[in-house]
Amino acid sequence: MSEILLQIDGREVKAEEGMTILEAAQSAGIYIPTLCHHEKLEPYGVCRICTVEVEIRGRTNLVAACVYTVEENLVVRTRSEKVDKIRKMLLELMLAHAPDSEQLQDLAGEYGADKDHFEKEPSFCILCGLCVRYCAEVKKKNAIGFVDRGARREISFIPEIASKECNSCKECFSLCPTSYLQAAFVLTESLAFSRDSSPTALKK
Ligand code: SF4
Ligand code: FES
Repeated sequence: MSEILLQIDGREVKAEEGMTILEAAQSAGIYIPTLCHHEKLEPYGVCRICTVEVEIRGRTNLVAACVYTVEENLVVRTRSEKVDKIRKMLLELMLAHAPDSEQLQDLAGEYGADKDHFEKEPSFCILCGLCVRYCAEVKKKNAIGFVDRGARREISFIPEIASKECNSCKECFSLCPTSYLQAAFVLTESLAFSRDSSPTALKK
């Protein structure tokens, strides 16, 4: 695999062909915030909080660091006025859905995002897909999925599978940036698990 030289925040970084900017930055100890990324999962690129500024052959673009692969002589800026502005707006939008998320609040502090900027639409889920993808890609169980589209899109446990698989697993719970997942599980457990297969009350 050939080596690629790029520059991140003014530092020369060596990366391997096929690496993403996020992987290259992490290998050099440079922090880029993420919400939908997990090292065990295929890149997803949905939350856009990892947006960085790249410059190649004189052109500047904003790209998602977790999906954009490195190129020779790429110049990357992980913070800039534009990057910070985008992250601030994204956080304000996500906080309208999940105002109590500690992870979002911490990032909001960093980027000066106002959690009351947008009207609240508390769905409590930011649709990062970590739970759905982890269950499918790592556990191969598909006990949770997305339902509906657009503004009505949400996650949902599949009771027939979840009642058998989830109580002895729960590995996805700690991945959720908003804690909505646990609430959704408890609700599914109380409403939809059959009496025979119903696990004991959720213990964390
Ligand atoms: S429930 Fe949590 S982990 Fe799952 S998609 Fe929503 S925010 Fe992400
Ligand atoms: S972490 Fe890159 S788009 Fe979510």
